[in-house]
Amino acid sequence: MNQDVSSVERISGAKAVYGAIAVPGDKSISHRYAMLTSIAEGQSRILNYSTGADCRSTLSCMEVMGVSHGFAERDGRTELIIHGRGLRGLEPPLVCLNAGNSGSTIRMLSGILAAQKFPSEIGGDESLSKRPMSRIMAPLRAMGAHIGATNEEFPPLAINGQPLEGIDYALPVASAQVKSCVLLAGLYAYGETVVREPIRTRDHTEIALRELGADLESSGNVVKVRAGKPLKARNLIVPGDLSSAAFFLVAALMAKEADLVIANVGLNPTRAALLDFLVGAGAQIKILNLEQVNGKLIGTLQVRSSQSGTRVRGGVIEGALTAALIDEIPVLAILGPVSEQGLVVRDAGELRVKESDRIATIAENLNRMDVRVTVHADGFEVPGKQKFRAAEIDSHGDHRIAMAFSIAALAAEGESVIHNAAAASVSYPEFYATLREIIQ
Ligand code: S3P
Repeated sequence: MNQDVSSVERISGAKAVYGAIAVPGDKSISHRYAMLTSIAEGQSRILNYSTGADCRSTLSCMEVMGVSHGFAERDGRTELIIHGRGLRGLEPPLVCLNAGNSGSTIRMLSGILAAQKFPSEIGGDESLSKRPMSRIMAPLRAMGAHIGATNEEFPPLAINGQPLEGIDYALPVASAQVKSCVLLAGLYAYGETVVREPIRTRDHTEIALRELGADLESSGNVVKVRAGKPLKARNLIVPGDLSSAAFFLVAALMAKEADLVIANVGLNPTRAALLDFLVGAGAQIKILNLEQVNGKLIGTLQVRSSQSGTRVRGGVIEGALTAALIDEIPVLAILGPVSEQGLVVRDAGELRVKESDRIATIAENLNRMDVRVTVHADGFEVPGKQKFRAAEIDSHGDHRIAMAFSIAALAAEGESVIHNAAAASVSYPEFYATLREIIQ
């Protein structure tokens, strides 16, 4: 892990946000491309792979199982090259696989591990060791997997690879990680594997599997995969991460003056609810240059603000919208207090089992900044028209909390101190450098 618990960033109030930036490659898509090209046949080249520590964890897990990779420069851009070993080419790991801080790595990779002809163990850091795994263990066991966990719930997982059988599985929790885990196991299972989602979640796994040649069908909230077809290497491009861009979109919307362009951001409809929410709340955001790459939409965003004019309205996030905005809620919690009507978040119990208990860590840090918030078991409410006071912030080792409260610090007078700010490197190592480029 590239996390330094003693790291501190000092951030002062800012009047304006100007510039043209790019954000790192999408974390969700990078994980999937790394895993799937590792079990594809041949050499794949991946442009704009996420620079975050989480996606390095996935690469290092694959490396331990014999998948070599390297980086090359092409036309001034860095490409990741992965030497795929085919569905049955992974080697038994001789050590416990280290997923670091990454829930996506442990949950999705477990689907592949469950079907191998060898035993394996996979764990991670302190935060990951507290995150629930029964949500993947239940469907994998129903497919015939042998999988054990600490107290039947927590990493490290001990997996004894087995021949698997396809299942028809209705997800009890809307989770793209769990859906992906079952689909990846389905690549190896006898017969057909069907996953039914209560709410449609991000479909990056489905798109990537199709791109690499898997036998997959999806319609509405139902996805079906059949084993038997090998995956084929591809050259792939990862779009910029909208969940990372979200921090700067909010920074621009909160500034007195702003004109910010964010290039080549992934706008897949199952991920782009943030834009609809912000535009619906009155934000001025334009999509420039929309194009389709590897089955996905990529666009350049332009956001403008004049807080001397109107504030964004705020709003209610609940039901399916909560699932669609789950990674953006920390930074929307920063926009809420300066909005006209405030922000209400419901149906968000999942936030309690992210990299930190995000309902608690959002509320604690808002309170430190003198912002009123009411906490519920599965959400929170922040009234609008409030002001941030500069404060000492604790990220609790959670990348999205570190970045969200760095944006809050821009709206306060005086200097805020973000403790354990290096947590940002889990998804966005360049965050503070980019932030300093665009604020005035
Ligand atoms: C992710 C799915 C979401 C999200 C996480 C990444 C993915 O988690 O919060 O950051 O890449 O599939 P859940 O599947 O637990 O909802």
